[in-house]
Amino acid sequence: MQLLKKADPEIYEAIKSELGRERSNLELIASENFPSISVLLAQGSLMQNKYAEGYPHRRYYGGCEFMDRVEELAIERAKKIFSAEHINVQPLSGVPANMAAYFTLANFGDTIMGLALPHGGHLSHGHSVSFSGKWFKVVHYTVDQDTEVINYTTLRELALQEKPKIIVSGASAYPRTLYFDKFREICDEVGAYLVADISHIAGLVAAGLHPSPIPYSDIVTTTTHKTLRGPRSAIIMCKEKWAKDVDKWVFPGIHGGPHMHTIAAKAVCFKEALEPEFKEYQLQVIKNAKSMEMELKHLNYRLVANGTDNHLLLVDLRSKGVTGKDAEESLARANITVNRNTIPYDPQKPFIASGIRIGTPALTSRGMKEQEMKKICTLMDKVLTNIQSEQIIKNVKEEVNELCNAFPLYPELDNIG
Ligand SMILES: Cc1ncc(COP(=O)(O)O)c(C=O)c1O
Repeated sequence: MQLLKKADPEIYEAIKSELGRERSNLELIASENFPSISVLLAQGSLMQNKYAEGYPHRRYYGGCEFMDRVEELAIERAKKIFSAEHINVQPLSGVPANMAAYFTLANFGDTIMGLALPHGGHLSHGHSVSFSGKWFKVVHYTVDQDTEVINYTTLRELALQEKPKIIVSGASAYPRTLYFDKFREICDEVGAYLVADISHIAGLVAAGLHPSPIPYSDIVTTTTHKTLRGPRSAIIMCKEKWAKDVDKWVFPGIHGGPHMHTIAAKAVCFKEALEPEFKEYQLQVIKNAKSMEMELKHLNYRLVANGTDNHLLLVDLRSKGVTGKDAEESLARANITVNRNTIPYDPQKPFIASGIRIGTPALTSRGMKEQEMKKICTLMDKVLTNIQSEQIIKNVKEEVNELCNAFPLYPELDNIG
């Protein structure tokens, strides 16, 4: 880092400031995490220098022997974790992975069916601003208004009526278990393919703490940077029957040279995911979310779907007279980072939103446990019930600071400079 400081002080300062921000804030964004220093080192390594278009032992460039080694290790380890027949570790990120999955199974204009964004789905599951909504005909399923969970009976009825080519099972803001076996039954009945996007829950699936979609899905996609605690990227897993087509859509269909430094970092993440500590970490992620559920209920917050089975919670703030936007902004003043989020059937526009989404993966990576989660809920409550009081927010910020100091983040980076 000292070399960077000399060469480019402005970028050095920005990186240093970001380290300071990450250390001094309570990171509750459900899709973020702090990977290990080894993952960061691999990601920042000279593996990024090499063009390696193609796949191991079938490259369009010379000098790829170490690229092959790294990519094969990544695949081998990912297979041990997820028991998938075929894995492609090259996708650049979650959206391109979904693109390759859809292109493999459907043609332009075919119907795809995904969970609606305001009900917890992702933009790439058919939203009109995404390629998925522009290039396919989209039918969205929703959560039930009363239970706020997916109703597989109405999902089946909709599928029978619309006869989609693909049903996408997966979410960005869904706090309950996804039943991939039920999705498969519906797909079989209507003749649809099943794509499972486990971006959010991949770490839980890897640790055996959420049902795996692998036995039921034609194609499974996942980002690697959320609960999985890897670099910002993605992988695709599929049945052998789709292997060739998936590989062709990933390269040369969607990208040119794979990002080999990121593939190296994914391999490191997968090695970590095979260690017993990884399961303990994922268990703690869930315990921490449960602890927040209990404490927030105790403080009279309404939780979407009445709680959580995984790493995230959606808090409906309407009874507290605060919007998601106000909550996000006032919590940020106390160094607590969350994102505003629509709740199902939200009367507010997404920019304002009636709720916030909170998740435990990042704080669990810092070593925080149930006791700290309880404390954080009371701190959040102090802010949310006093959003006009600068003094109270300042006091909360001091307590946040103490908590952050007690759980140091990336102490190794102090030696790097
Ligand atoms: C379910 C799901 N799929 C796909 C993505 C997109 O991933 P990326 O931002 O890496 O393209 C996300 C990101 O939040 C997600 O939650």
